[in-house]
Amino acid sequence: MTKKLELYRCNLCGNLVQVILDGGGELVCCGEKMELVPTNNVEESIYEKHIPVFTKEGENTLVKVGKVLHPMNDDHYIMFIEVIDKHDDSMCLKYLHPGQEAQMIITKELSNPVAKAFCNLHGLFEGEMD
Ligand SMILES: [Fe+2]
Repeated sequence: MTKKLELYRCNLCGNLVQVILDGGGELVCCGEKMELVPTNNVEESIYEKHIPVFTKEGENTLVKVGKVLHPMNDDHYIMFIEVIDKHDDSMCLKYLHPGQEAQMIITKELSNPVAKAFCNLHGLFEGEMD
């Protein structure tokens, strides 16, 4: 049984997929069951650079990955950030690449948002607006 917005990874080919709507079946890739990507809960020093942080900037909201911005090197970077607005049940997704900053700007009004950031080495992290 899959739930809306869960991430699943294929440990053989590296495919990463997100569930758009709940379903009853099992996700399979390369002939094997895909693995649910958990929201990370690692030691604090690693954790702090990965938790998305919301900052209001005028009409916009800046979502940064980490109180100290996460590095964006070729071998270690944030692959995407997504912001889920629980109030209007919508989502914004931004893909990121090495050399960019680990952040995104949301130009719409948010209500009860949750941000998720995916690090190529350390996995999935989640942060809420204060
Ligand atoms: Fe990382």
